[in-house]
Amino acid sequence: MKIDPFDIEHYFARYEFTTPFLLCASDCETISVNELLTMAGRTEADLGALKLGYTESQGDPVLRSAVAGTYSAVALDHVVILGSPEEGIYLAMRALLEPGDHVVVLTPAYDSLLNLARHVSGNVSRWEIRPAEGRWELDLDQLISLVSSRTKLIVVNFPHNPTGFLPDLDQFRSIIEIARQHKAWIFCDEMYRGLELNGLETLPSMADLYERCLVLAGLSKVYGLPGLRAGWLVIRDEVLRAEVMNWKFYTSICPPAPTEYLALAALQTREQLIERNRGLIEQNIGDAGAFFGRWPDLFTWRPPQASSVALVGLHRPSATDYCHHLAEEAGVLLLPSSCLGYGDGHVRMGFGRESFGKGLARYETYLQSEENQRRESLSLT
Ligand SMILES: Cc1ncc(COP(=O)(O)O)c(C=O)c1O
Repeated sequence: MKIDPFDIEHYFARYEFTTPFLLCASDCETISVNELLTMAGRTEADLGALKLGYTESQGDPVLRSAVAGTYSAVALDHVVILGSPEEGIYLAMRALLEPGDHVVVLTPAYDSLLNLARHVSGNVSRWEIRPAEGRWELDLDQLISLVSSRTKLIVVNFPHNPTGFLPDLDQFRSIIEIARQHKAWIFCDEMYRGLELNGLETLPSMADLYERCLVLAGLSKVYGLPGLRAGWLVIRDEVLRAEVMNWKFYTSICPPAPTEYLALAALQTREQLIERNRGLIEQNIGDAGAFFGRWPDLFTWRPPQASSVALVGLHRPSATDYCHHLAEEAGVLLLPSSCLGYGDGHVRMGFGRESFGKGLARYETYLQSEENQRRESLSLT
């Protein structure tokens, strides 16, 4: 059976490597293999000596133990190292869902969180994050009304891509309570956990609070290492974990050895990498806030509480047309909300890259020249 197009990835495949100024990337600034090795106190020779045989299918126990050590109620047996974070979404939906199972998905969502659940179960309800004055809000009453004893799975993503929303601890615990009452599973995508901004506290991982959950995490966003394709699922339930492993034998079988080696190095320098990226995001968000202040007729700005991304209201008839035009005319890339299944009135921006300031300056020059042309044509009429 065919699956819906993965709109975000099609869009990035078209523009990411041909558009000079990327203002919507969700990952953070990356580093080289050599920089990573140096930070972790390892050498090129250490990496060069690595053997390229098959690896343990659930992942290297040393790496799994390092991952488990970043949680409080997680043992190394609970961790499944993946071939990529994206694979974890596929494996989870395949292992957990049957046709007809009811799933509630927090939306807007990274495509695969919604599309894979819909593809496998065919029975998905959307739980929408709502725009409010200067921020985004969760409607827990809506979740209560959507979840019933027929609900097999609730899919959430905190910190949230694309809004940058982070629930408070009470809201987070309420979601768990709602799931618990109905014996529903939770798939909690924590790919952006660790990027809480302006001193906001990191929420506990869902893996530490709820036994019927699958947590997805990895090194692409927070650590700025998407080219490693390093990710993991935490699944405390043994039966479900075995089911996930069975599906994994049909996809990647085992993680790539160089990825496991470098992922361990990255976990050893965790604080340093995260601190650097959080600082970069906060600085870029400061610049973006000032920019939005200069263009109040064009944007509605709801600053993110966490993550590297934000969803910005765009006062133009079609964000999709606007973004294609902007990429082609100005070489500046924004992501239209149509790629996130969220109407056509918003754009996603991403703040994790060092080149953000340059891109924003280029965008502003373009907006100014557009504005000058508009004024000129008005004065001529
Ligand atoms: C919320 C979320 N989950 C999962 C992924 C997949 O991560 P990766 O591209 O590293 O496989 C992404 C990537 O953008 C994401 O935003």
